[in-house]
Order: sequence, then C-alpha cells, then structure tokens
Amino acid sequence: MTQLLSEADLIDRILGHVDAKSTDLGDDVWHEPTENYYSKERFAAEIELLRRLPVAFCPSAALPENGSYVARTAAGTPLIVVRGDDGVVRAFRNACRHRGIPVAQGSGCARAFVCPYHAWTYGLDGRLKHVPGDDGFPNLDHEQHGLVPVTAEEKGGLVFVTQDDPVSPGALADMPDLLTAEQTVFDASEFTDEANWKLIAETSMEGYHIKALHNRTFFPYGFDNLNVVETYGPNSRIIFPFRRIEKLRDIPRDERRINGMVTSVYQLFPNSHVSVLSNHSLLIILEPLSPTKTQWVVYRLSNHVNDGKTADINEAKRDATFVKDTGLDEDRAAACAIQAGLKSKANSHFTFGKFEKAIVHFHTTLRKLLDVRA
Ligand code: FES
Ligand SMILES: [Fe+2]
Repeated sequence: MTQLLSEADLIDRILGHVDAKSTDLGDDVWHEPTENYYSKERFAAEIELLRRLPVAFCPSAALPENGSYVARTAAGTPLIVVRGDDGVVRAFRNACRHRGIPVAQGSGCARAFVCPYHAWTYGLDGRLKHVPGDDGFPNLDHEQHGLVPVTAEEKGGLVFVTQDDPVSPGALADMPDLLTAEQTVFDASEFTDEANWKLIAETSMEGYHIKALHNRTFFPYGFDNLNVVETYGPNSRIIFPFRRIEKLRDIPRDERRINGMVTSVYQLFPNSHVSVLSNHSLLIILEPLSPTKTQWVVYRLSNHVNDGKTADINEAKRDATFVKDTGLDEDRAAACAIQAGLKSKANSHFTFGKFEKAIVHFHTTLRKLLDVRA
C-alpha cells in the first residue's frame, strides 16, 4: 500500500513550502478534450465503468444499527444498502421481484422490506420471506426470488458498492481509515447542479484557485496555491493548510499536531471525496445524472478530535455552515459556469498544469480504466 506522509513529515513539508513560497508539483501537464464533459458516448462509458468499480455509497455511521438502510441511485441504478441482523452491510437492487417497485425509499431502520404494491416481504438479507396469498403463485421458488444482491464492502468507515463485474479487483486495497462507525452523521443532504460530475470533482482537487475564487471565504484563513498532493492507488490526498499552521514552528517537532491546521481532502476515485476539517468531516458523492447534470450526496459527520473525544456538535455544525455557505457555493457556481461556457466552443481541450497534479492523476486513471474496459 502507498504510504501517505506522517503528521510530522506533512507539517515539515508545509512549513517548507511557506518559507519557499512553493507548492507540490506534478510531473506532467494534461490535456483533457472538452467534449468529455458533454459527450453522451463518454458519459455512457463512464457510467458503465462506475458500475464496475467500488464507489462510495454512504458512511458506515449512516447505518448505525442492525436494520439501518439507505436507498438511492448509484451510477443510475436504484440500490438499497442495509446493515443485517448479523451487523454485516449488504446491498441489493431496489426492485421488488414481483413487478419491480422499489421496496424502500430514503433512509431509516427496518425489520424487513415490505413492498408497497402487494406486500411481498424481504428479510434484511434479501430473502423473500412472505408472499400474501401465495396459492396464486403455484411453484414460485422463493429462493430464486430474493432481492438481487450487488457487492457491498465496508472499508475505512465507508460503504462501497460494486454493481457489475469488477474492472479493477482489489481496488480498495489502498484505502486508508478515513471515518469511523462511531462518528455522528449530523446532516445528510442532496442537491443537483447543471455541471458534469468531473467538473465538480475537479474543484476539490487543487488549491491554485484559493485566492481568485475564494478571496473572501477561504483565502483569509488559508494560503493560495500551497498544497501537499499525494497519490495512493487511483486516489489522491490534497492538503490545504491554514495560515495558523505557522504557530507550530514554536512547538517541538514530535509534539506538533496537525488537527485544526489543515483541511485534508481524500479524493476517492472516481466520484467521491472525504474532507477532514477541524471539527467535522464531509463525505461528498457525485452521482452523475446526465452528461451535464450531477446530484450531490453530502454527509456531514462530527469528528473525533486528537484525544479521542468527540468534537462539540455545535462547533461542528457552525464550521459546516461556514464551509457550505461560502466556499462550497463558490465551487458549485464555478463548475456550473464552466459547463455553460463549454457552449462557447472556445476550447478544444482544457490544460491542467503542474499545480493540478491530483486532477492529472484522476484523468490518467480514468482514461486508463476506460481503455481497459473498451
Ligand atoms: S410489485 Fe412488489 S409485491 Fe407486487
Ligand atoms: Fe474551491
């Protein structure tokens, strides 16, 4: 597994960049055809790929009890993810085996899934347990009419689903522990933007835009274009330091703590990321709805702070409101503006420079996997 920098090494690297007025650099520049942000063919290929990769579905903490479930679409497929009576998380295609109605909506806790149409009833393990008036269905094989499973894996405090034949087996091997099941989800929301999912994803992968786009929001607290960017497997970690990190210069190296001094963004290839802030963490999943429309699925969780205590939930909520109402809205607006601007046909491709190393890694990985699939 790729090693990410230790806390002490990370702080050294950041302070070195502050002194040198530098940032981490990638090796290559990347040219991405702009067509890939609106082409129907490219979109179809990406959806097919997303169904063959483990994609983040929800935090483990969103399934706190046996029977807790979340139902929504992933790469266009309606799914239910549920924690069973044995504590194991399973995923199913969300369609009744009688005539296909979804058997669950939203999220909640259930003892069984009862179809709203004719009340066929499924256990948390997907088994068909009850068919009202089953004499009307002679020879129905219950064993063959359970909910249809897809692969679910819990790793690093997240639940991942893989719907179809995996294109890259073992893809979660490089996943560090990012969240824990004990963190509290204090907010879950969904909203839609008129932008390709990759344009939105790219906004979280570089800090070259902090001064220009986030001049009054993040820039007063953070640095412009000063990031540590590491790649691990198909993923990347982008560290955005706060100016207050300079206080650590006066503290002995082995006593320095990074919590509260940076925002760490763990890009989880392909369509999600976890941002760890001082008092809370965010899981953002970008569900592609069409080439030019994306649904955001956002979970906000309170953090454990350094000494194992849970962060004050009110502080976590206050920080979350700041991030949501300021910087995130600016990023959303930028992605939508780029999408609208594509109609200008001014650019045959976008050029990502050496500051945009994580984006280059993202597109390199995506193109390679689309080629494997082809
Ligand atoms: S469609 Fe589900 S019981 Fe009929
Ligand atoms: Fe941004």
